[in-house]
Amino acid sequence: MSVAKPLPHESARLHVTGAARYTDDIPSPAGCLHLAFGLAEVAHGTLDALELDAVRAAPGVVAVLMADDFDPMPDCSPSLHDEPLLCTGTIHYAGQPLYLVIADSHLAARRAARLHQAHVTEAPALLTIEDALAAESWFDDGPRIWRDGDVDAALAAAPERLEGVIEIGGQEHFYLEGQAALALPSEAGEMHVLTSTQHPTEIQHKVADALGLPMHAVRSEVRRMGGGFGGKESQGNALAIACAVAARHTGRACRMRYDRDDDFVVTGKRHDFRIAYEVGHDDAGRVHAVRFRHWTRCGWAQDLSLPVADRAMLHADNAYDIPAMEITSWRLRTNTQSATAFRGFGGPQGMLGIERVMDHVAHKLGRDPLEVRRLNFYADAGGAAGGQPPDPRSISGPVRTGRTHYGQAVEDFCLNALVDRLAARCDYAGRRARVAEWNAANDRLKRGIALTPVKFGISFTLTHLNQAGALVHVYADGSIHLNHGGTEMGQGLHSKVRQVAADRFGCDIARVKVTATDTGKVPNTSATAASSGADLNGMAVKVACDTIRDRMAAALAEAHQADPAAVVFEGDTVRVGGAEYPFHEAAAKSYAARVPLSATGFYATPEISWDRAAGRGRPFYYFAYGASCSEVVIDTLTGENRILRTDILHDAGASLNPALDLGQVEGGFVQGAGWLTTEELVWDDAGRLRTHAPSTYKIPCASDLPPVFNVELHENRNREDTIYRSKAVGEPPFMHGIGVFLALSDAVAACGPAYPALDAPATAERVLGAVRRVR
Ligand code: MTE
Ligand code: MOS
Repeated sequence: MSVAKPLPHESARLHVTGAARYTDDIPSPAGCLHLAFGLAEVAHGTLDALELDAVRAAPGVVAVLMADDFDPMPDCSPSLHDEPLLCTGTIHYAGQPLYLVIADSHLAARRAARLHQAHVTEAPALLTIEDALAAESWFDDGPRIWRDGDVDAALAAAPERLEGVIEIGGQEHFYLEGQAALALPSEAGEMHVLTSTQHPTEIQHKVADALGLPMHAVRSEVRRMGGGFGGKESQGNALAIACAVAARHTGRACRMRYDRDDDFVVTGKRHDFRIAYEVGHDDAGRVHAVRFRHWTRCGWAQDLSLPVADRAMLHADNAYDIPAMEITSWRLRTNTQSATAFRGFGGPQGMLGIERVMDHVAHKLGRDPLEVRRLNFYADAGGAAGGQPPDPRSISGPVRTGRTHYGQAVEDFCLNALVDRLAARCDYAGRRARVAEWNAANDRLKRGIALTPVKFGISFTLTHLNQAGALVHVYADGSIHLNHGGTEMGQGLHSKVRQVAADRFGCDIARVKVTATDTGKVPNTSATAASSGADLNGMAVKVACDTIRDRMAAALAEAHQADPAAVVFEGDTVRVGGAEYPFHEAAAKSYAARVPLSATGFYATPEISWDRAAGRGRPFYYFAYGASCSEVVIDTLTGENRILRTDILHDAGASLNPALDLGQVEGGFVQGAGWLTTEELVWDDAGRLRTHAPSTYKIPCASDLPPVFNVELHENRNREDTIYRSKAVGEPPFMHGIGVFLALSDAVAACGPAYPALDAPATAERVLGAVRRVR
């Protein structure tokens, strides 16, 4: 068996020796040109004139393209056709590309792109939630509202009420490899584009549109990314299109990469949210009803904001069976970067809303927040022992349904048992008592602890995206070459898919090679996103491999007058009718017997359906679960803080590769903790992003890891028939970072009687402010 083994990442050696090739490492072809955008410096206005003489005259500049050079202007949007490649008159945000410099070196292009004079009539910029609401500036024709149950009645009937609001900041992706693309013009106007993208088919489609070509004339390829995190689902379109149009214009290869500052200033980030809540609950802490209001800044263009905001709504329950819920979501259009996909895709923001509610209710009642959380959990599937909430019929208040607020039955819940296990392993109760002792004895340094759950829905909510294809070749020497629709961004998708192939053929994993994702090999791919890369592509690869294996079995069985069903592929050998061949001999024999040794595979996720307008259905095939417990310390004089210890128990189903999955859990947690603590995006009053480099934007580094960091996978099997009963693991662990935020809130709460009402990110300044408030 190759699956379920903790094998190293297929590119591990290449990664650590620096030999792994990323888009910008591909050697430049002869005569290759380099591009840079000239950027808008104001957030909103009309571009009256653009003086480009100095740009054109700058050393190394070959050509400069501006809006007038295009008809029509290529569009970069993944959704609404509302993102012109270059400004067509209206400036929508500070950082918007105004023109394109084509030069003979990267540096020459960048230097020239600073030399323009832009004559702009400035207009008032919509920067804040208030600005956008006042101007009724939003997408989706106004707020989207989902209702489940009679929230007014349930709020009125609840014994207790509380309300509050939380501000949740955005997040820069900070993939180590920035956005990059290379376009190679070929014969008859065809184009080959290599892009650091999670979505090669989108690149193919947008480049084809920009060039007025059918999709077959554009080939889009990506071997790997140095991180994507959602920031390369749509944000690479502009670079690929720019390279393609410049390549057509000059007839030469063109490449482009954003400098880190430009990457910050030009591209979209995680959506920031404000979430207001009105809660009806009882003295035990059971929540009867919640009314949420979500305000999210989407930036200047729609991009993926609607499904992101939807996913925030879809995760507003997190792990809790709440009898009545209403959510109103405003998707605000502002003069800022167009916010985009980022690990969790709105889910983390929605989830933080309800986790804040649980924390607030517990604080008000003076109860342990974990106790309040457990009281509100869905019931475990099959009534697993331990931590079961009381029988719903025996408690007062509205009856729980075991269904989410969008009508999906929660059939695989396991958090009662999982949380029991984690709480026991990390001695939650004992440590909570010790934290209280510490806080009673120490004035300056206060500690806090929080144990928070995660339930994350797996599938694209746009149902048709839940499909994947694969192409597998077995060569006559027994080596296997495969491609699938997914992309590699460090998460280990190619490694997992390779394990699947080796397992289907019962062969040595070294025989299997996965090469660059290529739209010429597997067409019509979905973005590698929504954590479903292995679920979808693993299944497609399995189908393709099984097709070839069955053909080989039939041919070998015939030669041995044996039953094809009795042919065994195992241990890098094939056994048939008493004979035994090394796998490569079986391949050679199959070739000689004229067996087709190449096949495609296809998979579409079953059973899902979703009515977005009504907000009802089964958008998710299943849920991934996990819980984390973090303990922190804050300095009440400075607000400085650190994580002392984190324990995580995470459900990856029957893991395809426990080593890679642990890596995803650790990395996801750290990225989530960074989002809610040190990573702060600051725009000035003119709408310019002032945090656009590591000097001002602080991501966690190795030294920020909790000194005690215990991460384990929860033993489980997916109840749904996924690839080897595994579960998606890319995004769900990100939300374990919420525990760090609520542990900080717990530490602040030790400073005084009031509820801390901490906003995110909980920077040292915000922690200090909250300490002052509670006192
Ligand atoms: N892990 C690494 N190392 N780098 C990444 O860019 N992206 C995350 C997650 N884990 C990412 C990552 C995001 S946003 C998603 S949706 C999934 O990986 C995508 O890959 P998968 O579907 O194969 O899990
Ligand atoms: Mo991940 S945000 O779905 O690319």
